[in-house]
Amino acid sequence: MALALENVSKHFGSLVAIKNLSLSFDAGSIYSIIGPNGAGKSTVVNMVAGSYTVTSGIIRLGSSILNKLPKYRIAQLGVARTYQNLRLFDGMTVLENLEVCFFPQSWVTILTGAKRLSKAERLHVCHACLEQFHLSDVSDVLAGDLPYGRQKMLELARAFVTEAPVVLLDEPAAGLNHTETKAMATMIASLKRNDRAIILVEHDMDMVMSISDRIDVLNYGELLCSGTPEQVRTNERVQEAYLGTTEELDDIRKLAQSRRAQGGLRSNAGIVRH
Ligand SMILES: Nc1ncnc2c1ncn2[C@@H]1O[C@H](COP(=O)(O)OP(=O)(O)O)[C@@H](O)[C@H]1O
Ligand SMILES: [Mg+2]
Repeated sequence: MALALENVSKHFGSLVAIKNLSLSFDAGSIYSIIGPNGAGKSTVVNMVAGSYTVTSGIIRLGSSILNKLPKYRIAQLGVARTYQNLRLFDGMTVLENLEVCFFPQSWVTILTGAKRLSKAERLHVCHACLEQFHLSDVSDVLAGDLPYGRQKMLELARAFVTEAPVVLLDEPAAGLNHTETKAMATMIASLKRNDRAIILVEHDMDMVMSISDRIDVLNYGELLCSGTPEQVRTNERVQEAYLGTTEELDDIRKLAQSRRAQGGLRSNAGIVRH
């Protein structure tokens, strides 16, 4: 099922967070949305998931127009997400955190007449999911008692447990160490499936470059470029948006050198070209 944003804009008062953005996402691929802080990445996720209304434009999922629907309907149509800041139920166990993902759907299924999973079926799916995300050993532990890295993995599991065809991941590696980030990248890559589109917002460029089929670069709410990891890596406009122009970088280097000469700075910190 394809997801498409057509000329979507989002204003917060006088701030234009997203400006005439058109993007489409097909099942079978991993897409990354990258861009400097404040570029509008989370706003895109929040609009698709129904957390933010759209100021203008259309968001489609298959034949449905999402931007007129409440959040629970969008979830029920098959859009799952994680949040930039963890939103687990700390006082519930790991298993219960997965089980509740079915509840908004099951009560909607009563209205729509769709098949509802029995408790036993639900538990079976949840246990299989715990296994897949390497969380079986902590199924009875309170989510709030898990170390942070495993909380992030549980948040990821929650987005996939209902087999949603569109999964939005907002910074799954935020706050993780190098080893955990690599494990997260491997896990997300393994979740790629022909019947699912994964849309990733992430700052960790190693992860983005290694697992994305396409990268969309946002800058000040507009699409700067779209392409394969290699195309994006070598795009000059992307390098400027992230790192400034070569002249600006030279100016900063000279300033750092003169400060260091005056004993004001201890290192070349911060000016690294990846
Ligand atoms: N709920 C909100 N109210 C007001 N401004 C917001 C809100 N959410 C985001 N913004 C603004 O919209 C812009 C894009 O934010 P965001 O989508 O969070 O950026 P990113 O995720 O790329 O860092 C920023 O200028 C941010 O301050
Ligand atoms: Mg964000």
